[in-house]
Amino acid sequence: MKFGVTTLSNQVLTSILDKIRGPMALAFSHQAEDAVVLHLILQSVPEFASGGLEVFTLDTEKLFPETLSYHEEAEKFFKVPIKRYRPDGDAIKKLEEELGEWGMRESPEKRRLCCRVRKVDVLGKVLAGKSAWITGLRAAQSVTRTGLQVLEYDEQNGLIKINPLAAWSDEDLAAYIEEHRIPLNPLYSQGFKSIGCAPCTRAVQEGEDIRAGRWWWENPDHKECGLHNNKRKTS
Ligand code: ADX
Ligand code: SF4
Repeated sequence: MKFGVTTLSNQVLTSILDKIRGPMALAFSHQAEDAVVLHLILQSVPEFASGGLEVFTLDTEKLFPETLSYHEEAEKFFKVPIKRYRPDGDAIKKLEEELGEWGMRESPEKRRLCCRVRKVDVLGKVLAGKSAWITGLRAAQSVTRTGLQVLEYDEQNGLIKINPLAAWSDEDLAAYIEEHRIPLNPLYSQGFKSIGCAPCTRAVQEGEDIRAGRWWWENPDHKECGLHNNKRKTS
């Protein structure tokens, strides 16, 4: 099966990757988008399977057991190591003293503090010295991602950000996964449609928004954890 958006993305992707000099990293959150992006990249630049691209995950120490078991399955399927970066131990100790186990649900400020210590600060360290990073972001995922481009500049971390699936719909994603028989995080078959940390992610009902299960107690207009803060023009 061929569908327009995939063909376009492949061409765009190959030419972008050709022009970037220096080390690159691919952010793998154990979601379907990341598996598709990794598959696309390895098809476009097969040499990446033997180095030149660091595939990494931010292990917040709050991931679901299903996500951790999928980690190994994904490494076997793609035949690449997925490096786990953990937050700083002292920072976690301080955070836990301040928030306890469920403090991140008490206010947006406390939630963002937890995301900062467990993800954003760690991402900054991973991306230091890299020329570009690659994500599984899609504009269709959320109102906060409207206007997302395939190629952006990440001001927060000071490098190029490549979002190969920027224009993909839910249907494009599902078709690609089916065509290439890509294994997915087992949480998808339990009703999850977007997957993050265990305390902050739940399954959703049929018809609910795909990110309704993320930080479900917060306003959808502000549901970002700080990894993706680009300001974009939306008109
Ligand atoms: S989040 O900002 O709300 O957490 P989301 O879960 O939609 O982001 O994921 C969007 C993209 O951000 C993923 O496709 C992946 O590229 C990157 N990402 C998110 N969380 C992680 C993580 N824990 N480790 C690595 N990359 C991540
Ligand atoms: Fe903390 Fe929840 Fe953010 Fe994970 S998603 S870092 S548990 S607030």
